[in-house]
Amino acid sequence: TTAAIRGQFLDFADVADCPSELADTVRHLKDGLLLLRNGHIEWFGDWEEGRDKIAENCPVHQYPDKLIVPGFIDAHIHYPQAEIVGAHGEQLLEWLENYAFPAERKYQDKAYAAKMADFFIDQLLRNGTTTAMVFCTVHPESVEALFTAAEKQNMRIIAGKIMMDRNAPQYLLDTPESSYDASRKLIEKWHKRGRLLYAITPRFAPTSSPEQLEMAGRLKKEFPDTYMQTHLSENADEIKWVRTLFPERSGYLDVYHHYGLTGTRCVFAHCVYLEDQEWDSLLDTDSAIAFCPTSNLFLGSGLFDLNRAREKQVNVAIATDIGGGTSFSMLKTLSEAYKVMQLQKQKFSAYEAFYSATLGGARALSLDHLIGNFSVGKEADFVVLDPAATVLQAKRLETSKNIADLLFNLIILGDDRSIFHTYVNGCLVHKRDD
Ligand code: GUN
Ligand code: FE
Repeated sequence: TTAAIRGQFLDFADVADCPSELADTVRHLKDGLLLLRNGHIEWFGDWEEGRDKIAENCPVHQYPDKLIVPGFIDAHIHYPQAEIVGAHGEQLLEWLENYAFPAERKYQDKAYAAKMADFFIDQLLRNGTTTAMVFCTVHPESVEALFTAAEKQNMRIIAGKIMMDRNAPQYLLDTPESSYDASRKLIEKWHKRGRLLYAITPRFAPTSSPEQLEMAGRLKKEFPDTYMQTHLSENADEIKWVRTLFPERSGYLDVYHHYGLTGTRCVFAHCVYLEDQEWDSLLDTDSAIAFCPTSNLFLGSGLFDLNRAREKQVNVAIATDIGGGTSFSMLKTLSEAYKVMQLQKQKFSAYEAFYSATLGGARALSLDHLIGNFSVGKEADFVVLDPAATVLQAKRLETSKNIADLLFNLIILGDDRSIFHTYVNGCLVHKRDD
């Protein structure tokens, strides 16, 4: 044992098959103990039961009045867009032209990319996010910078180079061949190096030629255990555009499916306007959705239909989608998800919210054998939350009756101030500045 953590814990148990009630899988330990060894979880249970297992010289970190949960998982985020969060006035396609593309241009500069990658990783950690699935830019340098920054913290990060060979400014375009070659090199260098994983990243159907999508599919076949990330059915104008660009395909998702870009470890951001057969196809192929509530609201894209996803049993992870999204905080993201559900008269419990940002996200990303809860053997990524970070929260805590209440207060009132400590791979990597 290298360290022991004592405090109040909450996570969700692994279950082979989805239980009927998520509440039945909640593990809430009022006085719990977590034993760490070499970055992994060695033991997890009640303090009284485990205290004898702590070696004499082992440090015990005590967290009274806090709540310790698994590290948050952000399933879709653009690191080069951190600097344009909250850009005013546009919906998706104009927003890309006016804000996103010009910002991404700067990442051809290695030094700039390195500086911003460090900034980005720091933002994740101060928000309790320990794993993210990340878009870089079209420049391989941007991927090098991000993986280098993530490796310093030993984080489990999935990322990739954008493939984009049309319908964007010349300065951001690659070609089918150059995108294949550069992606391949990056996969060979970074995929499965330490905790890092590579995602083949065609930006979205409108910015890739059929030839490039074919190259992306070829990469996926040649490196089947890599990931694939892209955007799908986010905005009405975007969907119309895809129809005119790919008239021979039956729909938006069919463009990706045709080129072999659906399946396990394929993650589609947004999915606001799916057709019935597209839901079925996502399930049949074991693809996953990244639900991006702050982005869908900020860019005026639409309301994601989570009930439909539940009904169709499609895996959904939750994501910030910075810089279309407006916060790095998964707590704030869950709060906006709750409001998106409210507008559709759908339910979203505090447990479902926390599940989707931890074990649910891990399952959607096929990482639940490694992260997502405190099960023995998993990687020790976790967050120490302060449920009374603000005066209002402390007041609200006085009237919260149970752990579900406390969780919901954290979601609705919480932000980066709620993140007291963040641990990655068993190491304390962020402390709130008090
Ligand atoms: N669709 C294609 N590119 C992007 C992007 O950068 N952000 C969002 N939100 N949607 C996209
Ligand atoms: Fe996005």
